[in-house]
Amino acid sequence: MQQSTFKMPESLVLVIFGGSGDLTKRKLIPSLYQLYKNGKMPERFSILGLGRSAFEQEKFILHLDEGLKTYLDKKEYQAKTAKEFLRHIEYLEMDPSDLSQYNRLQTSLDMLDKKIDNPANYIFYLATPPSLYGVIPKHLKAIGLNKCTSTEKTKSGRKKTCESIRRIVIEKPFGHDLKSALELNKIYKSAFNENQLYRIDHFLGKETVQNIMALRFANGIFEPLWNRNYIERVEITAVENMGVESRGGFYDQTGAMRDMVQNHLSQLVALTAMEPPVQFNEELFRNEVVKVYQSFRSLTPDDISKDVVRGQYTASKWKNEQHKGYREEDKVSDKSRTETFLAMKLFIDNWRWQGVPFYIRTGKMMPTKVSEIVIHFKQTPHLVFGLKDGSAVSNQLIIRLQPNEGIVLKFAVKVPGSGFEVKKVSMDFTYDQLGGVPSGDAYSKLLEDCMLGDPTLFTRSDAVETSWNFFDPILQEWSKNKKIPLYGYPAGTWGPPESSHIIEEGKVHEWTNPCKNLTNSDLYCEL
Ligand code: BG6
Repeated sequence: MQQSTFKMPESLVLVIFGGSGDLTKRKLIPSLYQLYKNGKMPERFSILGLGRSAFEQEKFILHLDEGLKTYLDKKEYQAKTAKEFLRHIEYLEMDPSDLSQYNRLQTSLDMLDKKIDNPANYIFYLATPPSLYGVIPKHLKAIGLNKCTSTEKTKSGRKKTCESIRRIVIEKPFGHDLKSALELNKIYKSAFNENQLYRIDHFLGKETVQNIMALRFANGIFEPLWNRNYIERVEITAVENMGVESRGGFYDQTGAMRDMVQNHLSQLVALTAMEPPVQFNEELFRNEVVKVYQSFRSLTPDDISKDVVRGQYTASKWKNEQHKGYREEDKVSDKSRTETFLAMKLFIDNWRWQGVPFYIRTGKMMPTKVSEIVIHFKQTPHLVFGLKDGSAVSNQLIIRLQPNEGIVLKFAVKVPGSGFEVKKVSMDFTYDQLGGVPSGDAYSKLLEDCMLGDPTLFTRSDAVETSWNFFDPILQEWSKNKKIPLYGYPAGTWGPPESSHIIEEGKVHEWTNPCKNLTNSDLYCEL
């Protein structure tokens, strides 16, 4: 096992572009608060929220405090700690697309450096609309904030050297398609070195997602079965029971492919399918991720119309409530063709996975919020004992990423009594047995990693490009071939029924219903 070589800096200024936005209030500040509360922030730090909205300092702090109260678990919010933490935060009204305003950023940073005796250690977090991802690095470069060049002294006489931290965190989606991802990478590489770039995908920060690797590579029993000889198919589901809510403007430009599939779901496929890295480090782990993406079998236009199904939620009544259709959502065009559901089949062309279909699906307004991976093992080669209806037993390993985090193995046992009937049972592990998964874990984990300088769980440029290389033809085909349907589906369903056609394969299989996978599933499946 390797020792960590990463170190928390003594001081740091975290600059959040998009400081007045939703992500900052909902996720970033609550996660930073948790780090603070657990003593995991640098000894001296400041957070500079930066945005176009006019906010007085006091109002900004109230706005963030409200976010802490709303988005943290009740037991995690402590008024005194929150007050102390919020003292580290300042607001700067500034238009990040306007280079002439960056001298104001420089002035604020100089002031904060003095205040906390900081040798110009900066992390820039881009929590802005993706349209600003290209312009901010250019402007940071133009004023020399991308790399350290100066050798001025700090208040304590410490040298501001080129050891100073300059990192930039970029939210997903990184690029709108392959072309724009390549362009963005070019811009970032001209301003930063790859080791300064932290393309964030919060799914990788989730405990249960990292646990896929522990399950596979810390145990000797699964890996020998983890291949085409024993696995028949893999299903990956990450769905939600809400619509786009207040994010219509963003979502209508994005859609399920860019919002969930090209990043979050691809990462889940990669972790499920990857070879064991020799070590878990930034280079070797990320090499294995890229190799999976390189092995995705390209889809022909014919495959796209057959094996990729998209949908959009329609106005409907669900649980006695009337729900808006996607096209009626705020800031969404009433003629929108943006998909809010996507299901597809893909193959990984390598020795381990040849011929094993991976089915992935995501959607808004589904019956529940759930993310899980279901590994379907092949049946026994010869039927000695079958289920009551005479059919053969199939085993599943279900990795429940959220909620009711856990792992379930499904297998058959003999029903006690005369005869030889077998019955399927479940063996469950739930994270509750370990005290549960801390809420807000994903962003806290990744923000901490970024401050420590550990990019392992962040997406490398070649991973973004290879992943886009596979998914981009689907977007192109959709825009070219108007005959490819965009199915409507009512709220509270598992998407358009057509999505089951890609998995049925001769009507033998169907999508697993996550509501029936865990014994205590009725806790959250409000069907
Ligand atoms: C985000 C997407 O990246 O992930 C959202 O932009 C989605 O649309 C969210 O709701 C899902 O993440 P989680 O952690 O809540 O499952």
